Amino acid sequence: MAKLWGGRFDGKNEAWIDAFGASIPFDYQLAKQDILGSLAHIKMLGNTGIITHEEAKQITTGLQHLAEKAAKEELTFTIENEDIHLNLEKMLHDEIGPVAGKLHTARSRNDQVATDMHLYLKEQLQLISKKIQEFRKVLVEKAEEHVETIMPGYTHLQHAQPISFAQHLMAYYGMLTRDQERIAESLKRVDISPLGCAALAGTTFPIDRQMTADELGFASLYTNSLDGVSDRDFILEFLSNSSILMMHLSRFCEELILWCSHEFKFVELTDAFSTGSSIMPQKKNPDMAELIRGKSGRVFGDLLGLLTVMKGLPLAYNKDLQEDKEGMFDTVHTVSTSLEIMAGMISTMKVNTQVMHDATEKDFSNATELADYLATKGIPFRQAHEIVGKLVLSCTQKGIFLQDIPLTDYQAISPVIDSDIYETLASKTAVIRRHSLGGTGFEQVRAQISAAKQILV
Ligand code: ARG
Repeated sequence: MAKLWGGRFDGKNEAWIDAFGASIPFDYQLAKQDILGSLAHIKMLGNTGIITHEEAKQITTGLQHLAEKAAKEELTFTIENEDIHLNLEKMLHDEIGPVAGKLHTARSRNDQVATDMHLYLKEQLQLISKKIQEFRKVLVEKAEEHVETIMPGYTHLQHAQPISFAQHLMAYYGMLTRDQERIAESLKRVDISPLGCAALAGTTFPIDRQMTADELGFASLYTNSLDGVSDRDFILEFLSNSSILMMHLSRFCEELILWCSHEFKFVELTDAFSTGSSIMPQKKNPDMAELIRGKSGRVFGDLLGLLTVMKGLPLAYNKDLQEDKEGMFDTVHTVSTSLEIMAGMISTMKVNTQVMHDATEKDFSNATELADYLATKGIPFRQAHEIVGKLVLSCTQKGIFLQDIPLTDYQAISPVIDSDIYETLASKTAVIRRHSLGGTGFEQVRAQISAAKQILV
């Protein structure tokens, strides 16, 4: 079959080589955007008199027909036609005859493909942003149920100080809020029209780039034609923001996996988000959380892959740029589905509040309380720290905890210690009393939740 660009060629093409060069196996996902771009372009060509109104009308009708078929997934693409642009142009030709050839006036596949991807990503960013928002709502709802659920807070994965489980959930809420902000802020750099940059240098035809940019709903346009067809920074920014987002999800998943373990038993994921083992009948594995943790790797890979593709490319278009798509599609899909799974997993998970709380009662996570207690009574904090450190050591030797030390022993260590020490050492007290701004005290956590709820409505 003759190539649309075949004029200069007299040799035959070979199918296996065509297959290597083709992008249609993945860029078919840009069909809708490609047709939208063509519709805007043809309207402009008609309005500026570059082609006649009659020609523009014929081509528009043909394109609209293709759009209907695309929406119903009725288009059949072929490798011979290489990519989405040439496939659709060929179909248009079959539909309306040689006048279809006028569509590509004052345009190149280089500005066409860039336009398609800007349109695609603009839509996807908005969908992903909504999914982040949904997940943030789930986090806040769960947090609201667990303000008074006490759990160990960790540093170095060692019990550090008791915290509210809601504080832990709201930490992720904060991260996800910034992820959503990053996505929203990046929209500005996706919302730019490359259409009309043509192959690299602009065109001799009297096109109206503002008209096509407006028609496609772009907020601005590239003011340098070489830049418009060469850069993929808008995709890189998306992959980079997605990598940060997936890193957050992966971290959370790592905790869920730990918390589901026999040793922790802090939470239980519902059956829908767990799987069994083909050999060990007792197993209930947190597969979905593990997969999200794993999938963060492919998103980081997509970012690194495209950075590597781009780093040595001379301006302007090079075929290497065709490698920008699979990673972008893959990340869109991975991020979208991961967010949905996260929301489902967290909203349905069972929290073993008693187990969490008990974990804070048989440990030394109240050591800071004792040191603070002594400091409030006038003992310099460094000295208080030393006293408590020694006490912890002697407790570990005796196999007891700070709350098990009799008052008489305490008073022998320091007369400032009174019977209210036991109340002070209770993990719940330790949490409640941390009412510094942003701290884990119940009132502070409630304030975070109500601020979040106001933003989310
Ligand atoms: N399929 C190509 C891509 O994705 C479209 C642009 C082709 N341009 C060219 N000059 N060969 O990059």
